[in-house]
Amino acid sequence: MIKVVITGSNGLLGQSLLNLLLKENDKYDVYGFSRGVNRSGRNDFQYISIDITNKSQLTEELLKIKPDYIINTAAMTQVDACENDKAKCDILNVEVVEWLAAICQELSAHLIHISTDFIFDGKKGWYKETDEPNPLSYYGLSKLKSEQVLEKSNINYTILRTILVYGKVFDMSRSNIVLWVKESLENKREITIVDDQYRTPTYVEDLALACKISMDKNATGIFNISSSELLSIFDIAKQVAAVFNLDDSYIKSISTATLNQTANRPIKTGFDLSKTNKELNFYPKTFKDDLQRFKETLM
Ligand SMILES: NC(=O)c1ccc[n+]([C@@H]2O[C@H](COP(=O)([O-])OP(=O)(O)OC[C@H]3O[C@@H](n4cnc5c(N)ncnc54)[C@H](OP(=O)(O)O)[C@@H]3O)[C@@H](O)[C@H]2O)c1
Repeated sequence: MIKVVITGSNGLLGQSLLNLLLKENDKYDVYGFSRGVNRSGRNDFQYISIDITNKSQLTEELLKIKPDYIINTAAMTQVDACENDKAKCDILNVEVVEWLAAICQELSAHLIHISTDFIFDGKKGWYKETDEPNPLSYYGLSKLKSEQVLEKSNINYTILRTILVYGKVFDMSRSNIVLWVKESLENKREITIVDDQYRTPTYVEDLALACKISMDKNATGIFNISSSELLSIFDIAKQVAAVFNLDDSYIKSISTATLNQTANRPIKTGFDLSKTNKELNFYPKTFKDDLQRFKETLM
């Protein structure tokens, strides 16, 4: 059996990974690490209630389990919260990754870590894995630092960079762009969305699959994971309305400049997927196709 620890198993990606890996419970022996109670709605894996910023408990649990793979999905992901509490952001997004890398070194385990398009400044768009990072926000900087921790280490690691992740799992602590737009329009609530930021959004089931492929292929290095089409966030919202047959007149546009958010966001990201296509044999689809797949899971 392949022993896999998923940190952040209560989160969007964490729960999607549980659902994917536990389909092959004769192959994967799965451990989920998250804060508080198990919120995945499943009991067919080993749940460890842990705050992973507790270094001694984290180390003790991992040395007991001796995983083959650690998939680190836990992070401080709210961009403005990271800007406002840099010290807290550093602990979870950088220091924990240093500790995980040290434990992987000791156990000869492979670390799969999730990073973000926010490591780029958004001037170019269609980023390749080799493009020069230049984060505009503390969140982006913390994720870049976490990548550098792994690049300097001697362990087997995979960094999956991803963009604007959406989907639905059992009990969620926070929403995402697609669910928020869908629920707002269903409740006839007006929403204001930026029309000058561009992304290639990611269906969480694709990101979970990319984690599994990385394990199955023992792929190391950095890979881009997202859908294949670059859209403005406003157009993303319009497509949600179209696929779910909702009235899009409640969607109003706004420019980034007038939004006045705490942390700066990159204007145009989006990923070049050629390396991922070639080396992971992974071919993500358009946002519209993914939304259709997502809709079918809700029916
Ligand atoms: N979501 C996006 O749009 C996006 C875009 C680019 C990159 N990413 C990256 O993708 C990864 C997964 O994101 P996600 O959307 O799945 O995030 P998420 O839904 O917020 O899940 C993270 C999980 O980690 C848990 N966690 C946080 N701090 C913890 C701690 N100290 N100890 C134990 N567990 C802790 C959270 O617990 P609670 O539920 O109790 O808070 C949550 O369940 C992250 O690395 C993120 O930076 C996400």
